[in-house]
Amino acid sequence: MEIRVEPEDSMNELIDIAAKELKKSKKAVALTGAGISVESSIPPFRGKGGLWEKYNPDEYAHVLAFKRNPGKVWIMLKEMIDTIRVAKPNLAHIALAELEEMGYLKGVITGNVDFLHQAAGSKNVIELHGNNRSLICMECGKRYPVERYLEEMPPRCKCGYALRPDVVLFGEPIPQHALFGSYELARECDLMIVIGTSAVVSPMSHMPVIAKENGANVMEINLEETFLTGSISNCIIKGKAGDILPKILREVKEL
Ligand code: OAD
Ligand code: ZN
Repeated sequence: MEIRVEPEDSMNELIDIAAKELKKSKKAVALTGAGISVESSIPPFRGKGGLWEKYNPDEYAHVLAFKRNPGKVWIMLKEMIDTIRVAKPNLAHIALAELEEMGYLKGVITGNVDFLHQAAGSKNVIELHGNNRSLICMECGKRYPVERYLEEMPPRCKCGYALRPDVVLFGEPIPQHALFGSYELARECDLMIVIGTSAVVSPMSHMPVIAKENGANVMEINLEETFLTGSISNCIIKGKAGDILPKILREVKEL
């Protein structure tokens, strides 16, 4: 059933609705973007302080840019991996893991490459954009632990080719198993909680649309409105994921 939200509903009322919906649903799914990891000190991509303010993604995050000049792209990759390697899951990641453990969340679809959902204990995590834990060779397919980047810059495969992290760069397709797995979760869920994504990169941004088209309620948790707000999502709970998700979890436990 579609949730009813009034424009004057307070944050606490929306948190209450989210908790009730989670408790009712046995097929809820979370979709997470960079915003969920901001409180783990990982900068987002867009907006003030975002990675793309410093690095033009066409020059630093496109597969052709990597093929042309891996050393240049590794300036950004090194900064990103250095930050991610020391980051710890925050209260938002932990709350989602606990909701899954309690049986209220079926899984997490994420565009993040930081592995913080798994570090927090989430089991069913679909990584649409891969992760930064291993490096791969585009020439021979050999795989190495990410730590190899500490040895030389850019890190190289035994075959001599520059290595890259096992993430999706612009200009590359999403791994099929991740794409199909997330389509399935989105199609079958009855509640999608969309957390910390600007929803401008597809196919990640299609997931709430698919969920909505299949009858699910869509609730956003974000500091600000997105393209989904007012069209795809039923409501937005404005605030930090690390504040709001623990409150929803507490409410779920108390109901
Ligand atoms: P963005 O950087 O585009 O958006 C981050 C969102 O998080 C924004 O809507 C912020 O308002 C929100 N936000 C920031 N801090 C928050 C907090 N503490 N709590 C809740 N929300 C917060 O990140 P994504 O939407 O994830 O892809 O970006 C999508 C894709 O674009 C990434 O996966 C990456 C990038 O290019 C690839 O590199 C392939
Ligand atoms: Zn190789």
